[in-house]
Amino acid sequence: MQAEHKPVLAQSIREMIQLKSDAVVVDATVGFAGHSRIFAETLDANGTLIGLDVDQKCLETAKENLKDLQCRVLLVHANFSEIAEVMQQNGIEAADLIFADLGICSGQLADMDRGLSFGQDMKLDMRLDDRLEVTAADIVNNRDEKGLADLIYEFGEERASRKIARSIVDYRHKAKIKTTGQLADIICKAFGCDPNSRRSKLHPATKTFQALRIAVNDELGNLEIFLNSIPSLLKKHGRAAIISFHSLEDRIVKNNFRSNKAAGVYDIITKKPIIADRTEVLENPRSRSAKLRIAEKI
Ligand SMILES: C[S@@+](CC[C@H](N)C(=O)[O-])C[C@H]1O[C@@H](n2cnc3c(N)ncnc32)[C@H](O)[C@@H]1O
Repeated sequence: MQAEHKPVLAQSIREMIQLKSDAVVVDATVGFAGHSRIFAETLDANGTLIGLDVDQKCLETAKENLKDLQCRVLLVHANFSEIAEVMQQNGIEAADLIFADLGICSGQLADMDRGLSFGQDMKLDMRLDDRLEVTAADIVNNRDEKGLADLIYEFGEERASRKIARSIVDYRHKAKIKTTGQLADIICKAFGCDPNSRRSKLHPATKTFQALRIAVNDELGNLEIFLNSIPSLLKKHGRAAIISFHSLEDRIVKNNFRSNKAAGVYDIITKKPIIADRTEVLENPRSRSAKLRIAEKI
């Protein structure tokens, strides 16, 4: 897999998160370890970095990218909803930093086995974790029209969800939907556009693909469980730092931090989310929609 990943909001993270050399850091979405390296470079042999990822291939890349560090590095194939168990199994009571950079890496989009992208025609799958059983193809071929429309509306915030669901169901009468290219074409046709001549910046399939990926991986459910676990896993003055990329995720993070503040558990460090400046957006387009929120355990 492509081994580079430019970590978003790196400068703000360096400024906002000051770690002692013996700190315990949990990177709950280690990916290609871009952010992990930023944290781990301030740690010495007494420090610990635990990296979690649902994608085994990312963990292999992370291992390679972290091999020259001084601190203890533990890389675990786990969902961040399992963070409490992972810490307990590794004898770690509490962390100074729990971090997540939600979503997927660009390398995963290009990975033919993951079946996430309409940029290339690949087998429609979308499971980030091989332990999962239901694929995006299972959903589009089996769910009824209303169920599909609701899913596309709820997780994709797609206003044309009914039209798209109707096109999917119509197509299913003729053939099974097996590839990302087939699905993207069905969605384009639902909008009455030629799949080969796109005028708008956002491909018409973008929101539906987002919705399916969220559903297949239960991304919002796992995020809720993860956020609810964090307070009991942080040391006093330990920080939770979460980068989200769309409004559904950001709303969940914002509400979780607010209710923990109301309960006297957190101070919110970022009154408004930190976003990328123009230079970063030009250099790294993925940073365009990134929002970083940080809370500190009181
Ligand atoms: C945006 S990438 C992280 C990139 C990383 N910060 C870096 O700098 O290389 C998100 C990563 O989170 C992983 N991921 C997504 N959902 C997850 C979950 N629920 N639990 C653990 N890892 C998850 C993905 O497989 C992906 O590798």
